[in-house]
Amino acid sequence: MSLSVENSKELNHILTRISIALLIYVLLQSNFPNSKIPLTLMTIMSMSIFYNTGIYKFFKSRVFGSISRVDIVSRSEEELLKSLKSLNSYESKTRNWNNNKKKNFRQLSTRQQRLVFKTGYLDKIDKVDKCIEKNNELIKDLVKFSMINHNISLKKFYSSSINIPNENYKVIECLCHYTRDWSNLGDVEIKPIILYIQKILEKILTVEQRSKTCVIVPGSGLGRISHEIAIMGGKDNINKNFKMVNSIEFSSLMFLFNEFVYSNLNNNFKNNYKPKKYQLFPYIHTYSNHLTTENQIRSIEFNQLSSKPLNLKISNENFNNFILKNDDEYDNIVIVTVFFMDTAENIIDYLDTMDKIVSPIKGKKIWINIGPLKYGTAPKVELNLQEIQDLRKSYGWECIDESLKPELLGYLTDLKGMWQGQYGVSMFACEMKK
Ligand SMILES: C[S@@+](CC[C@H](N)C(=O)[O-])C[C@H]1O[C@@H](n2cnc3c(N)ncnc32)[C@H](O)[C@@H]1O
Repeated sequence: MSLSVENSKELNHILTRISIALLIYVLLQSNFPNSKIPLTLMTIMSMSIFYNTGIYKFFKSRVFGSISRVDIVSRSEEELLKSLKSLNSYESKTRNWNNNKKKNFRQLSTRQQRLVFKTGYLDKIDKVDKCIEKNNELIKDLVKFSMINHNISLKKFYSSSINIPNENYKVIECLCHYTRDWSNLGDVEIKPIILYIQKILEKILTVEQRSKTCVIVPGSGLGRISHEIAIMGGKDNINKNFKMVNSIEFSSLMFLFNEFVYSNLNNNFKNNYKPKKYQLFPYIHTYSNHLTTENQIRSIEFNQLSSKPLNLKISNENFNNFILKNDDEYDNIVIVTVFFMDTAENIIDYLDTMDKIVSPIKGKKIWINIGPLKYGTAPKVELNLQEIQDLRKSYGWECIDESLKPELLGYLTDLKGMWQGQYGVSMFACEMKK
């Protein structure tokens, strides 16, 4: 365990607060030179600042070891706990946000309120509250399921010192991904992607080769694409399917939502959890760009699947740290990147990681990519498609299929809304011949 970036940020906060406390002390001391009050106050303030920090808990866990066992969690467990706490606060946070709509409404003049009231605006806010409650039914089950699955006890959950992160928007984003990945409404976005991947895979690998091939899907989100690749030759048909499909997702929230797709994740689920149907309301989380209330509160149905394909492995990790274990078991390898390459802070790191993963493989090495180039958080380089094509060549990737015209595809687009974004995505497949 070492001091992370978050810890060093926290250290900065402590130093700032202690400087303020020191300033107060100097001011009090100059006004009351003979009193012990300034020093006592300064000591109490410093102790309370330090006591509430993760750094104090970090040192406490190091010094007292097993005495404060509840505080000691591994990095990945800490991430899981954070995600579970965020999920647990979805209902209250979303309701607060919704209640603010009423508070804002009350700031109108009485005449204006009367006019708006007649449109049914307040009823709409109440309806959204009901939808939040329904969404939370899935979230409550998801929390329960994940706690059992990852051996997180109630005691650990409630006594952990991790504060509720400010990431309700991420919970909402994951929830809405059920529309893209696991409902009929998402077919328009996800089907063309799956069809392109299947077309390339069928062209490049024979059915016999599949059983000696490993597929890696980094940034797999809620996992529909990796699921479809895993069952390409028929569900659990070992001879006709890929030997292994590795779904790699960095966000713990996305990972937990993906796991929850399968009611029996490990084929030995202790609680005998049966697949359930959920009614979800993905469009309630914004009041913008709706034609009607009916559109805003329309729902999708999400049906859990009973079991995960045996050849599908879902892991919660950073693709750049991914190591393909037992690579000598595979003749061929396929990397499938979908709406992923532009998520990199350093896209060259992704290309290096891909190079490292494929290099020990003796047979076919394929890369299939679908996605736009909408660079996200603090990218170090922002390459256009032509520059990526040049880079591909430098690594030894030879293009075997590429559509010259960008394909229009939505991403979580509300097709009944007044704002409907589409990407002109590039689709290509490459083979490493070196
Ligand atoms: C735009 S989403 C696409 C999800 C999915 N491929 C799809 O098309 O629905 C990008 C995903 O990549 C994940 N991601 C970003 N950086 C990652 C990394 N370094 N390793 C693994 N996953 C990552 C994000 O958490 C997010 O779920």
